[in-house]
Amino acid sequence: MQFLAGSPLLSPAARTAWAADDLAGPQDALDVMDFEEAARKALPPAHFGYMATGVDDDATLKRNHEAYQHIQLRPRRLVDVRQTDMRTELFATAWDTPIFLCPCGSQRAFHSDGELATARAARAKRNLMALSTVSTIAVEDVNREYGAPVWFQLYANSKWEIAEKLVERADAAGCPVLVWTVDLLAGSNRETQTRMRRLDDRQCTTCHGQESTSSLRRRPMFAGLDVTGASNSNPGLTWDAVDRLKKLTRMKLVIKGIETREDAQLCCERGADGIIVSNHGGRAEESGRATIECLPEVVEAVRGRIPVMVDGGIRRGTDVFKALALGAKAVGIGRPYLWGLAAFGQAGVERVIDLLRAELALVMRQCGARSIPEIGRSSVMWSDGRRG
Ligand code: GLV
Repeated sequence: MQFLAGSPLLSPAARTAWAADDLAGPQDALDVMDFEEAARKALPPAHFGYMATGVDDDATLKRNHEAYQHIQLRPRRLVDVRQTDMRTELFATAWDTPIFLCPCGSQRAFHSDGELATARAARAKRNLMALSTVSTIAVEDVNREYGAPVWFQLYANSKWEIAEKLVERADAAGCPVLVWTVDLLAGSNRETQTRMRRLDDRQCTTCHGQESTSSLRRRPMFAGLDVTGASNSNPGLTWDAVDRLKKLTRMKLVIKGIETREDAQLCCERGADGIIVSNHGGRAEESGRATIECLPEVVEAVRGRIPVMVDGGIRRGTDVFKALALGAKAVGIGRPYLWGLAAFGQAGVERVIDLLRAELALVMRQCGARSIPEIGRSSVMWSDGRRG
């Protein structure tokens, strides 16, 4: 305790020694970060590395979270907050909270039940879930487990006919929203992943095969498609693709990976139905900009025409609160629920959702916000004195 009292922040080492070491069960976790160490222990290094990696020096990955420390709360006092309401409506559907589960691929690399466990947790908590193109479970099976159609994330494949088939399949499965990821069209340099793979004494090719397209061949969403020469990268795509996608589907089209006012304006002009401000969890390019730093200019450019969501670096209910204050309509989490999944399967994901919800409810009460619309620009300020 003497050490803790002398330390301005609980250092990562102290956290490991004191809190996250050997969680006996999900209830032992005090916050979502406690699951990270548990996940590291549960997974082979190559799989943990795939989840943990950013790009280059992982600076953008770190910045995503650290930037929240530069935003401060402006709590209002003497508001009757005995009842707080976190309900959020998105595309005419009401959700209990504004927190959603981002599309994260390869979940069976983290737990044998993979996306099925995530879907069961999301169903139990009535939480919005988005499914990745590179899911390890097919969308129809996930929908069955979820009890409703999930949002479907699309990588517009280098072979456009494959993208069309994926969209048709998600449409036929009843998915209401197509989340099109545009931040990873030209490749990424994932050093942490490579370094951690080198620590793994297993042979990756035993499970993963040799060819680069083999990873698509094994994905359920690509079953029956000719993936020869196909890739999720598609560096030739331009804004015309928005129109092509919109013509293909009745689903709402949300564009994920927007970071600038210029692109936000183009999304609106081209008829997108929503935006997710995202840098792919710091796994796209090493921009050095946190998504929470990009959010205000995107919100300003959109001027309320379509919902703007954000993901990246969310680890606390206060982070969710800050993102909402800066104009996000909903806030996505990725790694935190994957840590929960890796450590404890469905129960871990449920606990992650519960922890973030409880923290958000608490900070809302303490700041005098009785409902989500009561969280606004005046609820926060930047630590350099800028207004929220
Ligand atoms: C896939 O979405 C990845 O980031 O690896």
